[in-house]
Amino acid sequence: MSAVRGLSRRAVLLGTGSALPRRRVSNAELAETVDTSDEWIVERTGIRSRYIAGEGETTGTLAVEASRRALDAAGVPAAEVDLIVLATATPDQTFPAVATIVQAKLGIPDCVAFDVAAVCSGFLYALTVADSMVRGGAARTALVIGAETFSRIMDWEDRTTCVLFGDGAGAVVLRAEETEDRGILATRLHADGRHNELLFVDGGVSTTGTIGKLRMRGQEVFRHAVVNLSAVLREVLDAAGHDPSDVDWVVPHQANKRILDATARKLGLPPERVVVTVDEHANTSAASVPLALDVAVKDGRVKRGDLVVLEAMGGGFTWGAAVLRI
Ligand code: UT7
Repeated sequence: MSAVRGLSRRAVLLGTGSALPRRRVSNAELAETVDTSDEWIVERTGIRSRYIAGEGETTGTLAVEASRRALDAAGVPAAEVDLIVLATATPDQTFPAVATIVQAKLGIPDCVAFDVAAVCSGFLYALTVADSMVRGGAARTALVIGAETFSRIMDWEDRTTCVLFGDGAGAVVLRAEETEDRGILATRLHADGRHNELLFVDGGVSTTGTIGKLRMRGQEVFRHAVVNLSAVLREVLDAAGHDPSDVDWVVPHQANKRILDATARKLGLPPERVVVTVDEHANTSAASVPLALDVAVKDGRVKRGDLVVLEAMGGGFTWGAAVLRI
């Protein structure tokens, strides 16, 4: 298949950044208080550690740190940002949006700023909205962030979930450019709200009036994830006019190493082209894709000219994917 052709206004990725809480918790440390073992967690998930937010660390503080680093990497002054879209399911306050906290901390006097709630695929949703606004002319320089503190909605007595998640934030800077095939080439999003009970939080503002705890039927989520992710990867590559063989890097949502492997296998993608950070970060929900992207940019794997595919699936269910040329 031939690549997308023709000069057009696209959202080009200028820089990435990420932030993690100070405290790293190994499987062994977790096993001191939870009925689990390093062996079980590594074998079933590939996770070896996660970062847990402490005193003074929130979704907002992590998002601000990741954003500053992304702006530095992009060489873009904060004042030039005219759009902030932040994906989270664990905001600092019920309202206002965490995006406005980021705006204030970065000292941006005026811009569009709002949060997107699509849980683990939130970053793909945020990226797609920002891409549409940049291409459509409503924005020129966008900060797109995924930031979470899932440790605060964990049931620390439920070993089937609490070993899987961690906290963190990732951010990217996008800018409108007239280009032939750089930037975001295609995005695809989906939702199927019939699966609410497979992955949800058992509390909320207008129901229990409490924050609630995360509940998951892991095996069923696993099965849906592999099917939905391989389908949306094919769909988005098709939309961008590319084959799986054209892809330099897949940056997937980091939920379980076995999901990453099974999805790559279904598409015939060699495992060495898949960026894996689940071992170090665990599942950081909306933060996981931009966190993993930042790791791969900073260590030199993802570089200018590469064709990169991002994908994620999570509660809702919601899922999505994006193809971009760096
Ligand atoms: O980001 C949103 C998307 N989320 C996901 O994609 C998560 C998808 N699901 C998964 O990653 C996997 O299903 C899990 C990692 C959650 C679970 O792995 P599994 O291989 O499906 O295990 P299982 O649920 O079938 O449990 C197997 C056994 C059970 O014991 P019995 O009934 O066989 O005696 C569990 O009680 O493992 C037990 N178990 C544990 N043992 C030690 C469950 N959690 C633990 C644990 N430590 N932490």
